Amino acid sequence: MDKFVSSWYNDQSLPESYIFPPHERPGKLLVPRCNTVPVIDLSDTRTNLVHQILKASQEFGLFQVVNHGVPPNIMSETMSLFHKFFELPAEDKASLTVYTNDPKRCKLVTSTLDYDREKIHLWRDVLRHPCHPDCIEFWPRKPLRYREVVAACSIEAKKLGLQILELLCEGIGIEHGYFEHELTEDLLLGANHYPPCPDPSLTLGIPKHFDPDILTILLQEHISGLQVLKDGEWIGVRPIPNAFVVNIGYILQVISNNKLKGAEHRVVTNSSDHRISVVFCMNPAGNSNIEPAKSVVTATNPPLCRGFQFKEFVDNFYSMEGDADLALQPFK
Ligand code: OGA
Ligand code: NI
Repeated sequence: MDKFVSSWYNDQSLPESYIFPPHERPGKLLVPRCNTVPVIDLSDTRTNLVHQILKASQEFGLFQVVNHGVPPNIMSETMSLFHKFFELPAEDKASLTVYTNDPKRCKLVTSTLDYDREKIHLWRDVLRHPCHPDCIEFWPRKPLRYREVVAACSIEAKKLGLQILELLCEGIGIEHGYFEHELTEDLLLGANHYPPCPDPSLTLGIPKHFDPDILTILLQEHISGLQVLKDGEWIGVRPIPNAFVVNIGYILQVISNNKLKGAEHRVVTNSSDHRISVVFCMNPAGNSNIEPAKSVVTATNPPLCRGFQFKEFVDNFYSMEGDADLALQPFK
């Protein structure tokens, strides 16, 4: 079988190894694409924005932003670039699949980096790489203009992320600039391709998870698939032209000492359309110290955990198969 689900999805019924256990399957139930995920207009007044973003981050852990100032052509060029990327012939992508531990390198895999060990595979291909300028030499050369387009989009995504973090700092009473340096030093790109799936009721693009980062800025198109868990119910995140989806990462929940809610989310597949999403994950440097911010800890709201290095958490996260609560446990 060809390596990538992007290449063989069309001539297969769903292989056994992609079938999730019954309690995790999305089932036939159609979750309505609903309007309740907050949409925030970033051109609103600062006072309103602080209030709205705080409320959305406490209630959903996830929201969309419009009028964010990122030029629409940068967003559309990025999406069309990744369409072309995933359509490249397998031989053009082969060099990106070589197993390497080097964190600076690009990695393109079906499902996850743990493909060989995992019991169930995810219905997606994903390309990951750091966005730091030192790593650009390792980025794909094809399609043409990859480096130029992705660099421009990653700069915008980081700027937007920092702007949102500033509003959140103001909302929960963390000092200005808290996230500006070490805590958002590593921006990681993940480009997901979910090809049409023979049976979306049995499998998932990504099962329920928290992003193990500070904040994730996500670019999607008109195809739905992303869902967020709210009060025990899965809610579809309605695609809105030119919007970014923003979700609170688990590490931000920790730093806020549970004042903000990390978003638990998942991705369902569909039988007719290719879906591509591009996520920019704002990550702390590996050796940065993560702890509940001193300014949000009080006698009545004691720290939920001790301080730890971000890389210790990430190691736990991967050895716990992506369970963020278990990964935090040793630091409690
Ligand atoms: C992720 C993720 C959502 C999507 O990559 O962590 O949650 O819509 N992606 O692809
Ligand atoms: Ni995610």
